[in-house]
Amino acid sequence: MTEMKPVSEVTAVKAPVLPDAQTVTDVKHWTDSLFSFKVSRPASLRFRSGEFVMIGLLGDNGKPLLRAYSIASPSWDEELEFYSIKVQDGPLTSKLQHIKPGDQIILRPKPVGTLVHDALLPGKRLWFFATGTGFAPFASLLREPQTYEDYDEVIITHTCREVAELEYGRQLIDGIRQDEMLAELMGEGFADKIRYYPTTTREESPKMGRITTLLQDGEVFADLGIEGGIKPETDRAMVCGSLAFNLDIKEILEGFGLREGANSEPKEFVIEKAFVG
Ligand code: A2P
Repeated sequence: MTEMKPVSEVTAVKAPVLPDAQTVTDVKHWTDSLFSFKVSRPASLRFRSGEFVMIGLLGDNGKPLLRAYSIASPSWDEELEFYSIKVQDGPLTSKLQHIKPGDQIILRPKPVGTLVHDALLPGKRLWFFATGTGFAPFASLLREPQTYEDYDEVIITHTCREVAELEYGRQLIDGIRQDEMLAELMGEGFADKIRYYPTTTREESPKMGRITTLLQDGEVFADLGIEGGIKPETDRAMVCGSLAFNLDIKEILEGFGLREGANSEPKEFVIEKAFVG
């Protein structure tokens, strides 16, 4: 005969509130339309810097509402960081923008993506081209030791409409440059390899214009002192922005003689769409 348990003992065993639930540990609002947040990391989650996962909340119908988000933190970090837009009538981000520390979100622990070192052939100079929240995977890769082991120079370009939209990236890079723990992890002098090239298109700033235009007219190369521009022998690139941006950059990079690679077939550049909620 099986032993009966008192009711109190049975009800004390709580089912998880959400499947794959993770706890929010930090939230930062950057502008009316941009915020970043950190959540706990499942002990079993392994990922490569630059990959994305599906995250979300329970919808009104009780079903998970999930979107793809690049992980903005590096693969060695204890927490997971994300960088998101806020869309007022967006099914997910209209709700997600209100999360607070202690809240739970859903995280499906199956990381994937093409913005990974494995998808590029060896090179000397690595370009990260981002628009808007497309900066997120590079926030991860800029804190990944392999980035500096594999390349002599790392150029990060970030194009946004307004100056305030650059702030997340600017503070992250400033932080990386001053972080003694990172210097220990990456090797002394790693930060000297980073070249940051922010541009705005709709508000006055020291460097105005779409990065695509600045590449085509050679202004980027003149500003950074790069002779001969982008070359397939030395240059590698990772791209993350809107669909239109990705298509335009792809054409430009192919014009320089670079070929698009993948995990299964590494080449000279890789592209991923910045996901919107
Ligand atoms: P622009 O202001 O000239 O459209 P969005 O917020 O629309 O995603 O755009 C983010 C940034 O990316 C903006 O500065 C925008 O410039 C720029 N951008 C958008 N589409 C392209 C494109 N096809 N090529 C280059 N830059 C682009």
